[in-house]
Formats: sequence, structure tokens, C-alpha cells
Amino acid sequence: SASPFRRSAVVSETFSEKSELADIDWDNLGFGLLPTDYMYVAKCLRDGVFSKGELQRFGNIELSPSAGVLNYGQGLFEGLKAYRKQDGNILLFRPEENAMRMRMGAERMCMPSPSVEHFVEAVKAIVLANKRWIPPAGKGSLYIRPLLMGSGAVLGLAPAPEYTFLIYVSPVGNYFKEGIAPINLIVERELHRATPGGTGGVKTIGNYAAVLKAQSAAKAKGYSDVLYLDCVHKRYLEEVSSCNIFVVKDNVISTPAIKGTILPGITRKSIIDVARSQGFQVEERLVDVEELLNADEVFCTGTAVVVSPVGSITYLGKRVSYGEGGFGAVSEQLYSVLTQLQMGLIEDKLNWTLEL
Ligand code: COI
Repeated sequence: SASPFRRSAVVSETFSEKSELADIDWDNLGFGLLPTDYMYVAKCLRDGVFSKGELQRFGNIELSPSAGVLNYGQGLFEGLKAYRKQDGNILLFRPEENAMRMRMGAERMCMPSPSVEHFVEAVKAIVLANKRWIPPAGKGSLYIRPLLMGSGAVLGLAPAPEYTFLIYVSPVGNYFKEGIAPINLIVERELHRATPGGTGGVKTIGNYAAVLKAQSAAKAKGYSDVLYLDCVHKRYLEEVSSCNIFVVKDNVISTPAIKGTILPGITRKSIIDVARSQGFQVEERLVDVEELLNADEVFCTGTAVVVSPVGSITYLGKRVSYGEGGFGAVSEQLYSVLTQLQMGLIEDKLNWTLEL
């Protein structure tokens, strides 16, 4: 068969016994790990030929203490979501975009990566195996987390001799504790997320460890998260720890251009297309931090955060507020169109969703 995975014996035995929906509180999902039934695992050596992969019981994995990923951070992750529709079918949103981004990142991190087809088939397999964990329509989504890591042992600095492609999933609700209420950001001037020539443009694990210090400090002061500036001029917007940023002024939507230091978000790209299709002018360019002072609306985009309105931004001790405790008109419209597309509530003219 064309399927790149094998279902191990344990999976087929227990598969049919599972009830339709897991027994959890579907009304209070946040963004935390809820262990599910299965994970997908495939391996390959330096030759880049991945094994078919198999579904295994979700659980701890065994790694050499000298695995490349543990010692030198040779690792990437992805994030995408599956939604359950009213009719019971399941929708994936642009999974081949995640597959392609993983391949780009793998090239930067000297790792072999699964083909787009392998990636998408593996995502489908792990979602179907964990079907009972997909929230009922309207209650959230199943967050899918693919990992690619140097799992082979190294001591001297070098690409690992073996790689593991793993996917696990977890049902999720809203990312920020604010729910869909606006978040409060603080602009960081000293610590930087990425540098020109560095790895800011790929989804490598180290980019996320690098923002924890500023994020923790911001949270301790009551902010939701941190907005980073470019490290050369300390002046142009880059992104928030876990999402991209957009600024709206006089119905023109602007977002920092992709230039190697900003994560090329799939939600970012989708929102740009949705906005243009709704008649908005969208500019990808350098966005000066000073523009925040007289913006009409600011919002963040990401797979995890979807579209999150920003209620205030604090910069050099000055706080600027947006909206009146809710979405601005532009971000509300974009949020509505995007999520209706993702949940199968409006016609998918662009063929972005994959129905299972
Ligand atoms: C996502 O939005 O899927 C991400 O990968 C961000 C992550 C920090 C939750």
C-alpha cells in the first residue's frame, strides 16, 4: 500500500474498543498537554531514507544521553490542527505547508526530512488513531505536534547519525489564559529572538528556549507575552514569542516581511490571503515600533493562538491601548473568515482544508 505507516499489533487490538469521544471536560480545554492514545514514530539514518513508521502507544521515548538533539539542539517542530465538523468528518488545515516548512528547516539544521507525502500521510494516520480526542465541533481542536530530531549519538559537534520523526497530538482550546479576550504585550529591547543569518526563520527548538527568559519576566509583571524587535536597529517589529504580529491603520494591514529572522507562519500567510480576498490592502514590510503608537488595531496570528487581538502594548514604559476589551473590526472579520474556513463552515474555494 502507499501508506507510509504500519499499525503495530497493539493498535489494531485496542482500536475498535475505543468509544467515540474521550471522557474529558470538553468545555474547559486550555493549551496544555492531555496525553492521548497513540504517537507516530519513524526513523532514518544519514542516508535520509525514513522507515515506514508506526503508530505506538503514546509514552516516553528512549534516547541516548548523547543524542544530537539533547546536546546540540538539532531539532525542529511543527504545529497544525484538526477540527471535527458538525457532520463528524475531520478537517486538517494546509498540512502540506507544514511539511514543506519542516523540509526547509531540516535543510538549515542539516537533517534529512520526510517527504511532503510521508508527512501528510503520517499526520492523517495519527489523527485518525486518536480520533476520540478531537473535540466536538465548536469546543476546540486537536493540536498536532510533529517533531524531527537528531536522535543518534554524537560527542563531537556534528550532525547526528540517526533521525526520528515523531508526531503526537493533544486536544486544545484557547492558547492564552485570556481566552479570546485581548492580550497585553510588552516590547523587549535588550533580549533578541533571532539574528540575521541565524535560525529565526525556521522552527528549530532553540528559538523557543531563547525567548523563555524575557517571556517569564514579562509574565511576572502581568503581561501576556513579549514582542521582539530586530536586533540590528532595535526598532522594527519581529514577532511575539509564539506568534506573528499585524498592525492595522486606516484599514491598511501591515506585518513584518519575512527576511530570515521571522517565522514564516502558515496562519500569517493565510490571514494575508484572506485579508486581500476581503478587499483589504496588506503590506509586508519593515514595521517601525513607533507605528504602534497610532495604530487602530494590533493582532497576533499563529496555529496555536489563531487570531488573538492585542489590547495593549507597553514600550519604553508607555502603554498604548487598542479596542474596548474585544476584537477590533478588522481582526474580528479576519478571525471569523479564517476559523469558519478551518471548521468547514464556509466554502473552501482555495482548497486549504483536507477532509478525513
Ligand atoms: C504554533 O502556533 O503551533 C506554535 O508552534 C507555537 C508554539 C510556541 C505553541
